Amino acid sequence: MKRTLIAQALEASEACDSITICGWIRSRRDAKGFSFLAVNDGSTRTHMQCIVDNGTLAARELPFATNGAAVAVTGTLTASPGKEQQWEIHAQSLKVLGLADPETYPLQKKRQSDEFLRSIAHLRPRTNKYASMLRISSEAAFAIHSFFRAEHFTYVRTPILTGSDCEGAGELFRVTTLDPGNKDTSEDFFTKPCRLTVSGQLEGETLASALGRIYTFGPTFRAEDSRTPRHAAEFWMIEPEMAFADLSDIMELAESMLKSVIASVLDSSANDLALFDRFIEEGLIAKLESWTREPFAVLTYTESVRLLEQSGESFVYPVHFGVDLQTEHERYLAETYCQKPVIIIDYPKSIKPFYMRENDDGATVAAMDVLLPGIGEIIGGSQREERLEKLEARLAKQTQTPEDYWWYTDLRRFGSVPHAGFGLGFERLLMLLTGIRNIRDVIPFPRTPGSLEF
Ligand code: 4AD
Ligand code: MG
Repeated sequence: MKRTLIAQALEASEACDSITICGWIRSRRDAKGFSFLAVNDGSTRTHMQCIVDNGTLAARELPFATNGAAVAVTGTLTASPGKEQQWEIHAQSLKVLGLADPETYPLQKKRQSDEFLRSIAHLRPRTNKYASMLRISSEAAFAIHSFFRAEHFTYVRTPILTGSDCEGAGELFRVTTLDPGNKDTSEDFFTKPCRLTVSGQLEGETLASALGRIYTFGPTFRAEDSRTPRHAAEFWMIEPEMAFADLSDIMELAESMLKSVIASVLDSSANDLALFDRFIEEGLIAKLESWTREPFAVLTYTESVRLLEQSGESFVYPVHFGVDLQTEHERYLAETYCQKPVIIIDYPKSIKPFYMRENDDGATVAAMDVLLPGIGEIIGGSQREERLEKLEARLAKQTQTPEDYWWYTDLRRFGSVPHAGFGLGFERLLMLLTGIRNIRDVIPFPRTPGSLEF
């Protein structure tokens, strides 16, 4: 059967005598003498309005053409008098390809709660909001690849199964083929403990030490039991790594990447973004546009702590030099103080992983976090410690098995260079682009504590 995607049909330059579209019925309205079927095939946010006249051959299948049913409609494409769409189809034939029992079909026309929709994650892509989010996510992924390609970065893949812990935060998922109870890892598949990766950075650094500029775009896993709207146990990270580069180079890279991806999605996904601007976050598009124009703010960690101490706000977690910034602190800095994206640099050495380069003050490291109003941290990165002795000292202090990192320290033995990189959480980027405030609603099948359905 030759069929036209609804996205293509809606862009037609002229009327057409016979066209076939397929899709799922989103809504149906019966009038005197005819029925309206709003059909969507996922190719665009806009539904195709199909008009079926009573008494015609096409009308024979109308009793089965209920919400959620899959249909094929053939008819004439004619200019629509409606405001919502330019074209509509006057049906000559209507075929119901797959029934949907109206009594039990879970997607009702009325607005349903996010919580309920999460419980039917296999059907929620059929709602306007999730379909638009998924199309934006696809455009954003392409925009990221295009950005790095234009900047001469090589796209590489790093392992999902690893024996090392990059972040040293202990939030690791173990992978084993042993029977439960058998703790002898020498009998295990890899003859040593195996984990799901929390970051591709360490392997990424080795590839950047040969190719100069690389990036990864892959899944990462963290067993942090933080039941927040911003953390998932499985998420995707984009991790560029640049040789012959320092902290300021990746600050610049992070800012230009975010701006480029936002601009690209504003351009490619106007129709889908309009849904979020209208129903989820008023002013979203104007905000995104302004963020592509204005320079991001920059604060050191030490300045940030001083600002927080002087803010007069009563924070739940008191703040002083040496503590990690909490969400409430990050929100104050980005939303209240800067009122735009802000890059915080030079965090205390004591709260950051072994690989970050020590600054000359001996107390801080060349780290950066990009914080956004409404989202919090979207990017974390650093210049890496390229000096062997310093790195070995930090490894000995922070890990129980420094010898496992022999290959990582080798990079500092053979042709070591200043290098730097960062990680962008893809889901946090989608939260930024859509205004959706819960990470569970930007992942088709979210993995969070206690939740592994689908
Ligand atoms: O700040 P993080 O932990 O940095 C790293 O993993 C570095 N190794 C990256 C690098 O330098 N190559 O994580 C980076 C980003 C965060 O800023 C956040 O956007 C996202 O990953 N992220 C999460 N997103 C969803 N759920 C979680 N549990 C996340 N943890 C981190
Ligand atoms: Mg971080």
